[in-house]
Amino acid sequence: MIKNKTLKLILSEVKPYRTRFTVTGVLILLLSSIVWVRPALIQHAVDVEMANGDYEGMLKVFIAIVGVLLLEALLKYRVVYLANWVALSVSLNLRTKLFRHLMAFRLRFYDKTPVGKLVTRLVSDVDGIANVFSNGLLNAIGDILTLVVVLIAMLVIDLQLTFFVILPIPILLVATRIFQIHIKKSFADVRNQVSNMNEFVQEHVTGMHIVQAYTRERVEEEKFSDLNKKHQDANVSSIKAFSIFFPVVEMLSATSVALLLWLGIGGVVEGDITLGVVLQFVLYVFMLYRPIRQLADRFNVLQMGIINAERVFNLLLENESVTDEGTNSDVTFEGKIEFEDVWFSYEDTKSPESWVLKGVSFTIEPGETVAFVGSTGAGKSSIIGLLSRFYDFQKGMIRIDGVDIREIPLKNLRANVGVVQQEVFLMSDTLRANVSLHDGGISDDEILAAAETVGAAEFISKYPEGLDLDVRERGAMLSVGQRQLIAFMRAYVAKPRILILDEATSSIDSESERLIQKATASITKGRTSLIVAHRLSTIRYSDKICVVKDGVIVESGTHEELVKKKGVYHSSFFLYPVD
Ligand SMILES: Nc1ncnc2c1ncn2[C@@H]1O[C@H](COP(=O)(O)OP(=O)(O)OP(=O)(O)O)[C@@H](O)[C@H]1O
Ligand SMILES: [Mg+2]
Repeated sequence: MIKNKTLKLILSEVKPYRTRFTVTGVLILLLSSIVWVRPALIQHAVDVEMANGDYEGMLKVFIAIVGVLLLEALLKYRVVYLANWVALSVSLNLRTKLFRHLMAFRLRFYDKTPVGKLVTRLVSDVDGIANVFSNGLLNAIGDILTLVVVLIAMLVIDLQLTFFVILPIPILLVATRIFQIHIKKSFADVRNQVSNMNEFVQEHVTGMHIVQAYTRERVEEEKFSDLNKKHQDANVSSIKAFSIFFPVVEMLSATSVALLLWLGIGGVVEGDITLGVVLQFVLYVFMLYRPIRQLADRFNVLQMGIINAERVFNLLLENESVTDEGTNSDVTFEGKIEFEDVWFSYEDTKSPESWVLKGVSFTIEPGETVAFVGSTGAGKSSIIGLLSRFYDFQKGMIRIDGVDIREIPLKNLRANVGVVQQEVFLMSDTLRANVSLHDGGISDDEILAAAETVGAAEFISKYPEGLDLDVRERGAMLSVGQRQLIAFMRAYVAKPRILILDEATSSIDSESERLIQKATASITKGRTSLIVAHRLSTIRYSDKICVVKDGVIVESGTHEELVKKKGVYHSSFFLYPVD
């Protein structure tokens, strides 16, 4: 039931290429329907031309055979080419669609989905679906038709001989079925193990420094060997099935030929049957066994395709996208921000423990810089993350310039709310691309001006490549402070009206500290800014401070007010003398 639905979904992927798909189908049918011709010509050559000693006639038949061979070759070439063309187009299309779909997903989805799993879906599972078109569906139909055509050809010539020749076929069918059941399970195992391996390798490459720092190499190696062994076992089990199945097919087809020769030669001696017919039958026997053997394989491709398709289409059907139903594009982003009794949980379960924010309220006037302070896990990053709608809150209200942020089109919102995250992520690309994010509207001059403003010009000038500097994967080439400066440049060139800045917690040297402080000052100038601050220098500099504790704002005011109040801020955060 489910399978039929999935098969329909798979077939719907071929719609844009239906002409080529249909042509492929027609060619396969054509190819299957002429399989009987060559053996028939050979029979004619032996029984008529050779028996009569007619060399000219033999030459004619020979030319005809070559002609049929050429036609078959030509058809096969077109079929292989077209079928693969369709398959590749389907996978290209499906991959693009899947990737686009994934990009709209809310971050919550990525919090709980291993990267390796998505890589498997996008790469090998899509290939599995494409195989249905290059190697599965039409070829299976072609194989079945070949079977039917050959059987009819045999029956027309000699009923009795056909009966004996196909005696071993029921055994073959049973063997095929057993093989198919077995192989299906081991193929699914193989796929699962590949997915597990992808996941493991991806996680360990990303976290290699942890593995090395804690000298976990041996333990991780053991875990990997274990996975590797399971992968091998799954493969071995499928190979075992193949290595039993193929000899069985060989034996059965040899039995058919033996039966045929025994009866046939007897018939020739008796004069009931001609030598040409015996030859013709031998060729037909081979034509009969090949598609049966291949069918098992085709069904596997189909079955794997269905398994892969179930996974891929489930992902496509999964609706984790951020709702983007806002139509109010009048907001000018003056920068007034209001949080009104905001409740938020990363999970759907509304259990009391799952609330990360429990009624957060505050107001920020346009142009103000507000610092959020609080101990680790208090909810600071969570508060500011809600503003660009990386996550959606469950209760309460967030407004920008008096408008519910859910009514603002996501594109508008995100274009006007710039984010510098706690953990800076750099792509394995050039410095230029990491700042402009491939926005062609941002010129090199602008990027350099941004570098000047945030104080990154000095370190950039040390690299002869300049903006062409390849920062490698995740910015491995650069220091934490330098990465932070690049993130500042990124936000600066985007010219957002509202800025969110999540200061890195990692301690940096005083020189970088000075640079970052300067950068913070220049980037927050003239725009409403929400800063999660860990450094007193930043805290002191802001217009207002909100102290976050266990998901609520427990105190707010200016530095002086809070110090005077002698509350949480004074006891926990204000540990440094006022300079
Ligand atoms: N993506 C997430 N999924 C589920 N829970 C999360 C997620 N991110 C944070 N949390 C939880 O939400 C709570 C608040 O986390 P948050 O990141 O807002 O803290 P923070 O105040 O920014 O801390 P820090 O100063 O360490 O950055 C924590 O208990 C944390 O475990
Ligand atoms: Mg944080």
